Amino acid sequence: MDGNVDDPSVWKRMGVDPTKPSIARVYDAILGGKDNFAVDRAVAAKRLELIPDGGQGARLSRAFLARGVRHLAECGVTQFLDIGSGLPTAQNTHQVAQSLLPEARVVYVDYDPIVLTHARALLADNPYTKVVGGDVREPEKLLEVPEVEGFLDWRQPIGLLMVGLVHHLNDSEDPAGLVRTYLDRLPAGSFLLLSHFCNATPEARELEKAIQQTLGTGRMRGREEIEGFFDGLELQDPGVVPVVRWHPEEPVPEPPTASTLLVFGGLGRKG
Ligand SMILES: C[S@@+](CC[C@H](N)C(=O)[O-])C[C@H]1O[C@@H](n2cnc3c(N)ncnc32)[C@H](O)[C@@H]1O
Repeated sequence: MDGNVDDPSVWKRMGVDPTKPSIARVYDAILGGKDNFAVDRAVAAKRLELIPDGGQGARLSRAFLARGVRHLAECGVTQFLDIGSGLPTAQNTHQVAQSLLPEARVVYVDYDPIVLTHARALLADNPYTKVVGGDVREPEKLLEVPEVEGFLDWRQPIGLLMVGLVHHLNDSEDPAGLVRTYLDRLPAGSFLLLSHFCNATPEARELEKAIQQTLGTGRMRGREEIEGFFDGLELQDPGVVPVVRWHPEEPVPEPPTASTLLVFGGLGRKG
């Protein structure tokens, strides 16, 4: 994708500013996708310079999402609210869930206009999946959108997915309070699947500075602070761990590296 189109008003009409990096497009660039501009690729290059892993950290996080959704579908969860869903790529939530439960309902939420355009195109013919434009920082507004409130059955367990999202909330935005607001609305038997950048390595701490400078957001938090997002839930085995160690389906690479320690995640159940 090229931001230097002859008519920049095309992007403007979509609500896209090709001169400013966006989280979703930077992530896409790290994963080797094509839906990004030069400004996004510059941030991705800085990330890959600090942790030269060819994007392994992002791929591990994405694989955690797929394993988590599969696990929840196997536990009988038939509906998912995926906030900060990102640009569609391989193993999207609805594909994983509906491969096991063809009528599993999925609502994707993101605030990035390019994410919404791509997701809507991909899902035009899928009656069990909705795409909603919304900001996680506005829970009351988001939870009242008909595609969220009316499409999901709020009397049955819901899998709330916040994968790679909460680290984009700065401390001043009260991320723990926001997560709690969503959890309070979920019926008993629901789950929270969450992954988050961790400050476990010096490389991660350098990366925090770089993404704050370029994106204005991005917090590396410690394992205990990440565990705090699951307060009040029954934290499922193996707890909050590097995502590569969460129910791995392949041998875990040893020794741990800045890449395999970059993202921690876990699953909690609301009793
Ligand atoms: C790193 S991507 C993660 C995508 C996907 N969940 C995954 O794990 O592959 C983070 C996504 O969160 C979205 N996002 C960031 N802040 C958000 C906010 N305040 N409200 C809604 N979406 C947000 C970004 O647009 C981006 O698509």
